[in-house]
Amino acid sequence: MTVDTMTIRQPDDWHVHLRDGDMLRTVAPFTARQFARAIVMPNLVPPVTSVEAARGYRARIVAAAGSGFTPLMTCYLTDQTDPDALAHGFEEGVWAAAKLYPAGATTNSASGVTDIRNIMPALERMQRIGMVLCVHGEVTDPEVDVFDREAVFIERFLEPLTQVLPEFKIVFEHITTAEAAQFVRDSGPQIGATVTPQHLIINRNALFAGGLRPHTYCLPVAKRERHRLAVRAAATSGSPKFFLGTDSAPHAREAKESSCGCAGIFNAPFALESYATVFEEEGALDRFEAFASVNGANFYGLPLNEGAVTLGRSEHRIDDEIAGLVPFHAGETLKWKVAGLS
Ligand code: DOR
Ligand code: ZN
Repeated sequence: MTVDTMTIRQPDDWHVHLRDGDMLRTVAPFTARQFARAIVMPNLVPPVTSVEAARGYRARIVAAAGSGFTPLMTCYLTDQTDPDALAHGFEEGVWAAAKLYPAGATTNSASGVTDIRNIMPALERMQRIGMVLCVHGEVTDPEVDVFDREAVFIERFLEPLTQVLPEFKIVFEHITTAEAAQFVRDSGPQIGATVTPQHLIINRNALFAGGLRPHTYCLPVAKRERHRLAVRAAATSGSPKFFLGTDSAPHAREAKESSCGCAGIFNAPFALESYATVFEEEGALDRFEAFASVNGANFYGLPLNEGAVTLGRSEHRIDDEIAGLVPFHAGETLKWKVAGLS
């Protein structure tokens, strides 16, 4: 049976880059138009490492996004992160989670962690107080093929970490491989994963379709088709361990279309529409609400949203440029459209 409209509990975005300054004012309304809350990534320059910086950033986000949207702040972990200050910020309600960027893994990760041993006291403390760790799960070892960096991260870091800290709540962010999907599925309930629209929709061929396509480049980079299918199966399986996290990561057009283009896909304007398309194609629309609006909140121990969002079946072409940025799906036609919040 096909449905023409669906109304679900209002979703949250469990992984987004809202940037700062003019870019923040440009992009935040797109996220706030669909999502009630979002886990906001801290990879600014300088990174968001202190409670004071987070409070200031949170206020700027609220000003840009308008009321009705709640940013959930994450602490950027560095080799110098002080466990006491981190715990204090969590207990005060400023930090919702902390983010582990292996140094050099991605955009603005230069201040990230150079050796996981440097932050073990902070991670032990987080486990003790029930604070969630969000992980960019890729090794930075230049000897490891870029398409293998996620799978190798599991072997070298994630698996050992879960052995040492078996109760630690970890979100394996933006999973892209069959290995990651399987690792999460086979782990205990303390391990979850976010899944982006792009990793459900494109495989690595998209990067080279008729020429180099910088607007399909993000990190972790899209993988082979068999990995896309495994990630799709996991996301639409109904397992509570997988939830929505767009990883919307806007960069100016010139920064993408460059001899050294930035990683990141700006998918915020039509994120829910992208996901809905995937769930419909997989015959899993009945599991869409759990993925988008329930599993993440339950994982973080937060209440479910009260509001609702309605999507309608309506074919519409995505503009080549939105607010000066090139969006995911530019020039393509999507079948679902958000009709409104209630
Ligand atoms: O593609 C990405 N862009 N991956 C990340 O991990 C970071 C993000 C960004 O901040 O641009
Ligand atoms: Zn990200």
